[in-house]
Amino acid sequence: SLKILAIETSCDETAAAVIINGKVKSNIVASQAAKHEKFKGVVPEIAARLHVPAIIPTIKLALEEAHTSLREISFIAVTQGPGLVTSLMTGVDTAKGLGFALDKPVLPVNHIEAHLYANFVDKKPNLPAVVLTVSGGHTILLYLKNHGEYKVLGETLDDAAGEAFDKTARLLGLPYPGGARLSQLAKKGNSKAFDFPRPLIHSKDLDFSFSGLKTSVLYKIQSLGTLNHKLKTDLAASIQQAIVDVLIAKLDKSLNKYKPKSILLAGGVAANDLLRKEFVKLAKKHKIAYSIPKFEYCTDNAAMIGLCAYYKFRNKKIIPQKNFSAAPSLSL
Ligand code: KG4
Ligand code: ZN
Repeated sequence: SLKILAIETSCDETAAAVIINGKVKSNIVASQAAKHEKFKGVVPEIAARLHVPAIIPTIKLALEEAHTSLREISFIAVTQGPGLVTSLMTGVDTAKGLGFALDKPVLPVNHIEAHLYANFVDKKPNLPAVVLTVSGGHTILLYLKNHGEYKVLGETLDDAAGEAFDKTARLLGLPYPGGARLSQLAKKGNSKAFDFPRPLIHSKDLDFSFSGLKTSVLYKIQSLGTLNHKLKTDLAASIQQAIVDVLIAKLDKSLNKYKPKSILLAGGVAANDLLRKEFVKLAKKHKIAYSIPKFEYCTDNAAMIGLCAYYKFRNKKIIPQKNFSAAPSLSL
């Protein structure tokens, strides 16, 4: 059988998973989020130091839960990038060290490409697919022809969608990361109360831009003075609507152009209720199959890294290398 040990340390979660013949047997995530909260963002130097003591116990737990051992592993998959270089180094160096000591191949995985594999945990969506990956660090539309064969259709020119949620949430006085809290507030608000800009919504290409929205929200809040609860819920609902409208409009455009067999959602912002609802509505409008991952697989984890490696390996798009010695990489 094919047993993959997967390691992910690109940002502020130390994660390890075991994938056996394409099935997730364990998926351990040690999150540092609480340690960064008071700084209102991930502090790279702190993240780097916290990965070091966490990585070995996390791998050990993943192996134990999957009832396997390092010796039985076929190869090691590790996030090579993009991410915080000093965070990535812990995962990459651990994979290198284990590979060397055990004489096992190591397979580097791209973090952004891997996010979509949250949709392959307990099913196999039909390809080609159009994928919308929206997280704190990335906003990207992909056309996935087959595993390891994809085209970037559009990406953000400035802030990521999750970043837009987090930065506007901060303007509303919500703690970091504020995306989930903002969407909670939005439930009681009127999404038509404020007409925030939908950047690039009518542009021909499939790129995104969210920094203008943030600026517009800042000016609006300054002009409103003190915010009561009603104003806050209306602001939250209107911000959320603007972000989701842009994401859905671009997805709609891409479906008309590429006519895939399915659409997949991925990344932490896939937890957003409004986005999920609009995503399903769009799929029904186009009469196309869709997939939204369970939340635990939407945010950063190692199962998605292992599954990405598994499907690309099966499609002969990557070959595990012995004596792996690459450095963390910075781009898709
Ligand atoms: O995928 P993820 O864990 O991080 C990156 O890899 O970047 O995604 C985290 C992002 C944060 O920006 C967070 O605010 C956002 O996902 N998020 C949400 C919701 N839950 C998490 N944004 C909007 N609505 C939510 N319910
Ligand atoms: Zn991510």
